[in-house]
Amino acid sequence: MATQTIVILDFGSQYTQLIARRIREQNVFSVVLPCTAPIAEIQALQPLGIVLSGGPSSVYDADAPAADPKILEMDVPVLGICYGLHFIVHHLGGKVRSGVKREYGHAEVTVEDGASPLFAGLPATLAVWMSHGDEALELPAGFHRIAHTANALAGIESAEHRRIWAVQFHPEVHHTPLGSQLIKNFVFGICEARGDWTPARFIETTVAAIREKVGKGQVICGLSGGVDSSVAAVLVHKAIGNQLTCIFVNNGVLRKNEFESVQKNMRDRLGLKVVAVDASERFLRQLAGVTDPEIKRKRIGAEFIAVFDDEAARIAKESGGVDWLVQGTLYPDVIESSSVKGPSQTIKSHHNVGGLPLGMKLKLIEPLRDLFKDEVRRIGRDLQMPEEILGRQPFPGPGLAVRILGEVTPERVALLQEADEIVVAEIKSAGLYSSIWQSFAVLLPVMSVGVMGDQRTYAYTAAVRAVHSEDGMTADWTPLPYEVLKRISSRIVNEVRGINRVVYDITSKPPGTIEWE
Ligand code: XMP
Repeated sequence: MATQTIVILDFGSQYTQLIARRIREQNVFSVVLPCTAPIAEIQALQPLGIVLSGGPSSVYDADAPAADPKILEMDVPVLGICYGLHFIVHHLGGKVRSGVKREYGHAEVTVEDGASPLFAGLPATLAVWMSHGDEALELPAGFHRIAHTANALAGIESAEHRRIWAVQFHPEVHHTPLGSQLIKNFVFGICEARGDWTPARFIETTVAAIREKVGKGQVICGLSGGVDSSVAAVLVHKAIGNQLTCIFVNNGVLRKNEFESVQKNMRDRLGLKVVAVDASERFLRQLAGVTDPEIKRKRIGAEFIAVFDDEAARIAKESGGVDWLVQGTLYPDVIESSSVKGPSQTIKSHHNVGGLPLGMKLKLIEPLRDLFKDEVRRIGRDLQMPEEILGRQPFPGPGLAVRILGEVTPERVALLQEADEIVVAEIKSAGLYSSIWQSFAVLLPVMSVGVMGDQRTYAYTAAVRAVHSEDGMTADWTPLPYEVLKRISSRIVNEVRGINRVVYDITSKPPGTIEWE
């Protein structure tokens, strides 16, 4: 049975990805396409419904983002949200004007036509989140108003002729508490989705597709030890077994015991064929004398490619050729790189150590390209992967090198490994690890005086960082309990010779970043 898809056209709203999530939470697959996607591309997906996202523009702006208006002629239900509503009204002959009273924030919507399937099961008044300057003044022929606020129109419908609905507010954000029900109404009540896009089904179809694509080919995969590359590898392994060889590189800036524990997890617990390469000396040689964070990143990136290339060539020689490379690319990376005016910044592009310009011409397998991080975890759980792997906090490709300020030397790596292990252990034992996005130690090249027993010390400073975040793009520092901070501090100063002072980072992102570099 083909996968039922709801297509979301992105007009640049910061909430577009949330629309996709809200639909997927109903076990219905959804994809975000830039609003400029050719109509043929949209039709090829045979969408069950189309959602037009919000966006920061006005339809009268000279560079207003526009979709092909033919989408409004397709025999597919459409839901416009905010700018999506203006787009519909504007292109079907109605009138939009700049709102006399701009509405931002909380608002109350009165549902006028309880019979509209979009509002089925919802109360007559709804708390919603508004964010718009423009307003639909005259509706196109065949449309009528189905909801309003004190100031303006809030919802329209043309159910008979065109099967188009649109709302002025944002049902996808959680400031619209009953918004999920509205989205459900669109997806099930109007588009009549089956709701059968589950982890089990995803695994089944992905495994079958990989098997067919790869045939008898040989495949390699770079493992980082993190969630994404592990789940990608396990999926591919399920499809083609030992035609897959995983490569795991020790770049000299991994966490304490990481090189051994990842190998053990991947081989013994997940049954993967793993080639582990200890290239730490090569990397640390490249990092000697370097203090500039960008140069550190570049050297690590280049060395990684060199090591990976060597290994891939060796595997190719032994196995008679390698054809495919598995990457753990996730959906947010795909959307960020394809949206016209999509989510504001492409912060992650430089992060992808996975973007390997290999000498060999390898074809890509990206089994997680359609998924968000939490969906990857759900797939991992369905694949019965250990929680210890699935629940890991993100760890940057350039590893501890972005957490050692100043020069990266073997001694400093060892110091930070010790301090970091204490932070993680204490956070875990306080039961906080899985509710925190990232928690770690940073080594500062700042030395200060201390006293230990009767001895004067002169040693480094460790900063402790713990943040809450949804996706790493923004973050709040975590108010760790004093008791936990106290244990971390006293253990680091007592157990790590070379660090005599611990400070806690209370900076959010923005204006700070998560890593220090
Ligand atoms: P910043 O420091 O930019 O980090 O606020 C945002 C998120 O990205 C992670 N990060 C990286 N991940 N390779 C990665 O795979 C990298 O080079 C890299 N740099 C930062 C960081 O840990 C945080 O989760």
